[in-house]
This record gives sequence, C-alpha cells and structure tokens, in this order.
Amino acid sequence: MITNITQLQSAKRTKVERESLHAWHPYYAGYSENFVRSAINYLRLSKYDLVLDPWSGSGITNYICESYIISSIGLDINPIISYFGQAKSGLVLYLLNRNRVKLQEQILTISNNLKQDFSYDISLDNFVSSSLANNLIVIAKAIVLCNFPKTTINNSIIKILENTSIEHPLKAFFLCALFQTARKLSGYKSGSNPTWFKKIEHKQSFSLEEVQNVFIATSEQMYNTLQSSKILSKEYLLHINYTADAKQMSFKDNSFDAIITSPPYLTRIDYAMTTQLEILLLKDSGYLRELRVKTMGAPVIRNSQPSIKKSWGKICNDILNQIENHYSKGSKTYYWKNIVQYFDDAWQILNEIYRVLKKGKSALIVVQSSYYKDIEIPLDCIYIEMENNIGFFETKIPFTEIIKSHMAHVNILSSSYKQNKIYYESCIELIK
Ligand SMILES: C[S@@+](CC[C@H](N)C(=O)[O-])C[C@H]1O[C@@H](n2cnc3c(N)ncnc32)[C@H](O)[C@@H]1O
Repeated sequence: MITNITQLQSAKRTKVERESLHAWHPYYAGYSENFVRSAINYLRLSKYDLVLDPWSGSGITNYICESYIISSIGLDINPIISYFGQAKSGLVLYLLNRNRVKLQEQILTISNNLKQDFSYDISLDNFVSSSLANNLIVIAKAIVLCNFPKTTINNSIIKILENTSIEHPLKAFFLCALFQTARKLSGYKSGSNPTWFKKIEHKQSFSLEEVQNVFIATSEQMYNTLQSSKILSKEYLLHINYTADAKQMSFKDNSFDAIITSPPYLTRIDYAMTTQLEILLLKDSGYLRELRVKTMGAPVIRNSQPSIKKSWGKICNDILNQIENHYSKGSKTYYWKNIVQYFDDAWQILNEIYRVLKKGKSALIVVQSSYYKDIEIPLDCIYIEMENNIGFFETKIPFTEIIKSHMAHVNILSSSYKQNKIYYESCIELIK
C-alpha cells in the first residue's frame, strides 16, 4: 500500500540503482534516482540553487542534481564512498575525453618506477595475496603522485568551500578503478549481509603487469559507462563529494537552498566494514577502527557515552527507557548504549542541517522505521520531534510507504521477538 500524499516518488531502489555507474560499488543503503528527481521538482529547484547531502553515500543526490545542472555538495564520513560519489561527474568525463590515455600511461610509468615492496596492513592478508596487495598499493601510490590537469569548479561551490581542500576528481576516478580491480582479482564475493567479507582461501598471486592490465581495462569500462550515463561532459565541476563528519560541517550559516538526504537507519549496518578492503589499501586497520567508531549507527560502543537529552523528544526518551529496561540479554549493557549514541549523532547533525540551511528553505530526509526486539522505533516521528525542538518553522511527512525488503531481514533473530513486523519508509520535510 502506498500513501502518496504529494508528488514525491518512492525512495525504494529499483534495478536502475544497481546498474550502470551505480554498479561500480555495491552500495546497499541508497535511495532511488526517481526520488531525487521528484525531490528536485517538489522543491522547485533551479540552476541557481545549491543543494547539500550531508550523508551522501553513493552520491546519487549529487549525480541527479548534476543532470539538472544544479550545483551540490555531498559529505560522507567514509573516504571510499566519497570517492565513488566524486567519480560520477561531468568534469571527470570531460577530462577523460581529453587526457585519458596520457594519464593512464603516466600512472603506469610512475608505478613501474615505484615497483618495490611496501609495508602494508596485515589484515589485507585476509583478502589478497602479498603480491596482489603490494601491486595494488604501488598503483595507489602512483595515482596519488599523478599530475592531473587543472580543474574549474562552479562558482557557487567555490564560495562555500573556501577553506576546504578538495581532492582531484580524477584521483577519485582512478582510485575507484583500482578498488574495483582489487575486488575482481581478490575473488571477493558478497554475501547476504554486505558487511561480511568471506575470507578468501585460495589467494592468487599477480605480477604488477597483470594488475596494471586489469586496472587499465577497468578504467576503460568505467569511462564507457560514464559516456553512456546521464552525465554530460562539462568543463567545470558541478558537484563535490568529500570526506567529512556531518556533525561539524565547515559551512557558514544559511549556505544552502535545499538539503536532500538520508541518514543511516537504526539497522546497525556497519558502513565502514563494507569498504574494509579499500580502506586497508589506502590506510590501515587503525583508521578502519576509528572510522567505525565515528560512523553514525555503527555497531560499536564509544569510549565516552553521551547523555540523553530531553530535547530529543518524548517518543525517543520513552523508547530509550523501554530498551534500557528490556528483559533481553545485552539490552542495558550494549544495545541501549549503542542506540543512545545513534540519537546523539542524529541530534548533532540535525542541528547542523538547521544551521546551514537558508531561512524559508526545506530539507527532505528519508528515514525508515525499525524495531528493537518487539519495540517499534518510528524514526520519522522521532526526527520530527527533534526538529521541532531544534526550531524548524514547519515539519511534515509528505510521503510514507510500507516496505517489504528491509536490512533487518538479514538478521534472522530479529523476527523471533515479534512476528509480522511492519516497516515504513518516510520522507520528512523540514522548513526553516
Ligand atoms: C543511508 S546512507 C546514505 C545513502 C544515500 N542517500 C544514497 O542514496 O546513496 C548513510 C551514509 O551516511 C554516512 N555517514 C555515517 N555517519 C556519518 C557522519 N557522521 N557524517 C557524514 N556521513 C556519515 C555513511 O557512511 C553512509 O554512507
């Protein structure tokens, strides 16, 4: 059943969001292209507007905004996910049309000169042979050293990003080609739960030349996909996706004409772990640990526990109270703490959303309900209460629908507490 009160479209992903450039990285928590298109129409956005997505994930908001020539900025705390968002831009296509072969040759030459044994994080041994790990790292270092052509960024984005250093979009593109190369050669297979990497038993060795060949072929495939996508080649950058914590945005007050976004839900998806292979190639397991701790909704407990605030609203406070006193094992010692952390992050980021949005403008936020054992958590109503307390002029729920596929279903234990759970996905609108 769909209760479609306005012309906003369902956020539910379809085949479209698993194909073309969306298939570059298996991303499980995205919303639909159609939803973003309908949001742009619903908010009557034009090319003079600047859009923010503070939990940008696969960058679909920015990708669709770009197809309407609307400038946008996407933040994600995970650098790997931000690279995939940034690689899907018209400027990348424009620069590849002119410099692709030269740049590929440059990366190959630098990597041949760099050829040596680098130290790497031992956890990489779970996924790739030592020769593959080393050769992937050699190419990653070559991409970082590559001399990419100068870029032009759209004026409205430049103004907003005054003091932020942004990485070159072609660096993002070639790193994404390398990440895909790593998955192809490692023999990686995804399971039903996106955060579980099956340990690879028979790890194959590869020479630098073999890895380079797959890397070049992959960058060519990605280039072809960009050409056949909705992205038009453009001489300037219309959207930026970069790595940042939305709890502390570096933008001035009243910077954005609209916010279109979707936070992590209370489904305990470990976003950082879905990118562990890529993180280990660029960083190390210490970075991965820290990223998990900082990521909203991750199933980890931080060193300092935030205190519950009355301003989170009555529904949130009541539910937290029920969870703390729930009879099931670990409710008070683990789950309650984890869920308090989630709401503390949500509260901080919603405050930031309020601060950076222009007066009279709207934020559209897609959320899903979930359950803790038998306790329903209506995330839309909780966010609305929080936002009323933050001071939004008006809050409403212009779209809601029942959903059948929900990430909680990958956890078979979740159904043992209550049968016939109904899950909702809603889009809430906040007007400042
Ligand atoms: C539901 S997903 C967003 C999906 C996105 N709308 C799409 O269609 O691809 C939530 C994203 O929030 C990111 N995230 C979690 N904590 C964050 C934080 N503190 N700051 C910025 N991003 C964060 C996660 O890495 C994840 O990619």
